[in-house]
Amino acid sequence: MRSHLLNGLTAEHYRRSVTEGVERVAAKLATTDRPFTGVTVDALSPAIDAIDLDRPLGDTTAVLDELEDVYLRDAVYFHHPRYLAHLNCPVVIPAVLAEAVLSAVNSSLDTWDQSAGGTLIERKLIDWTAARIGLGPAADGVFTSGGTQSNLQALLLAREEAKSDSLAKLRIFASEVSHFSVKKSAKLLGLGPDAVVTIPVDHDKRMQTVALARELERCAREGLVPMAVVATAGTTDFGSIDPLPEIAGLCAQYGVWMHVDAAYGCGLLASLKYRDRIDGIERADSVTVDYHKSFFQPVSSSAVLVRDAATLRHATYHAEYLNPRRMVQERIPNQVDKSLQTTRRFDALKLWLTLRTMGADGIGQLFDEVCDLAREGWALLAADPRYDVVVEPSLSTLVFRYIPAAVTDPAEIDRANLYARKALFASGDAVVAGTKVAGRHYLKFTLLNPETKADDIAAVLDLIAGHAEQYLGESLDRAS
Ligand SMILES: Cc1ncc(COP(=O)(O)O)c(C=O)c1O
Repeated sequence: MRSHLLNGLTAEHYRRSVTEGVERVAAKLATTDRPFTGVTVDALSPAIDAIDLDRPLGDTTAVLDELEDVYLRDAVYFHHPRYLAHLNCPVVIPAVLAEAVLSAVNSSLDTWDQSAGGTLIERKLIDWTAARIGLGPAADGVFTSGGTQSNLQALLLAREEAKSDSLAKLRIFASEVSHFSVKKSAKLLGLGPDAVVTIPVDHDKRMQTVALARELERCAREGLVPMAVVATAGTTDFGSIDPLPEIAGLCAQYGVWMHVDAAYGCGLLASLKYRDRIDGIERADSVTVDYHKSFFQPVSSSAVLVRDAATLRHATYHAEYLNPRRMVQERIPNQVDKSLQTTRRFDALKLWLTLRTMGADGIGQLFDEVCDLAREGWALLAADPRYDVVVEPSLSTLVFRYIPAAVTDPAEIDRANLYARKALFASGDAVVAGTKVAGRHYLKFTLLNPETKADDIAAVLDLIAGHAEQYLGESLDRAS
């Protein structure tokens, strides 16, 4: 069994095993002609159920053969140009290389004595990101597991900074299309059920600042305490960017913590063409960035940044066994002092190798391409009488709905769109997402793959229309 432990004696075994795994994945990527096979839960479950975890196969080749059957063959492949569904990007090779390095060395970024250079690399990337945002000289932050955790930590800091004698009085303001992690965070932070005040959006799905001002005013009038405004720079569904300068102005006026959830829109920090769309982000007290959404990084790779490093003290606890207080005086840089996690992956290495290989412009160029593609897709949809499209994209999502000329019942149109999405998924020809707009079912493309072309979008729209028409035809038959 010791032959499986990675160490100096097993370096050759390690090289052969990992190379074999890499060869399999490379072959898979080279031959995958659809984003998904369309496998069903019922079809896949028996193969996984039948595996006896107490009877190991022992041999790498046999294990990889089995993995082919239970995972690789039927995985959903985000690198495929017709995967257009959720906020998952294809990943860049330097970051995948970094994954191999970081899991083999297996540093833990909680303390200096478990990571050494890793800690300094993460700190430099935090400084780099904060500088790109423009947060100023006192900024700091830490890598996290994802946007949900980044938002939670930012709101924890905001809660601790808010001056209130009762958690029940605290209020968070976020738009009606903000991410659900804001509400989840409020619950985890022990706030009351009414803690999140939902602010309506305008036609472009951006927070209405007039409504925000009204709610802030009402909050003050009712003796409640505004804890944070969460502005979204890139909403999950629409990619819409809340008016950051106006929101910053209101936060300053009412003395409220401004958090910018740029989990999606952070790609603009590297953009060569569209950086100005997130102007105002530099006035935030805290910012969420998900490199695993728009920096083409593998999951997980995210960070929370703060304007004032001192606010991170709210996440600081000391333990003799890990990070005793004296280490602060000794100026030993323990990242655990800033993090909600203890043992923590060296995810930062992925961004590091990416920047050192491709540079920020390389990432920005890829993100600009998908933003441009979304505009092309929008033009296609706007000109297509079969579809209703919701908003012009600020980033790279398109929300639309098939609207057959002959059908007027909105519920029937809902069913046709739901059916089309499911049928497309079952065919594996393309994967698209869905959402609701004003109570009606819509479909969504999240375009994060620069290899996706306008022709792919046009072809997928034809496939959707075909499935929806089939549903409506069959539904007519059922009725007659
Ligand atoms: C705007 C926004 N914020 C936060 C999140 C949560 O990020 P994660 O899935 O990395 O936890 C998402 C995820 O889609 C998002 O779109």
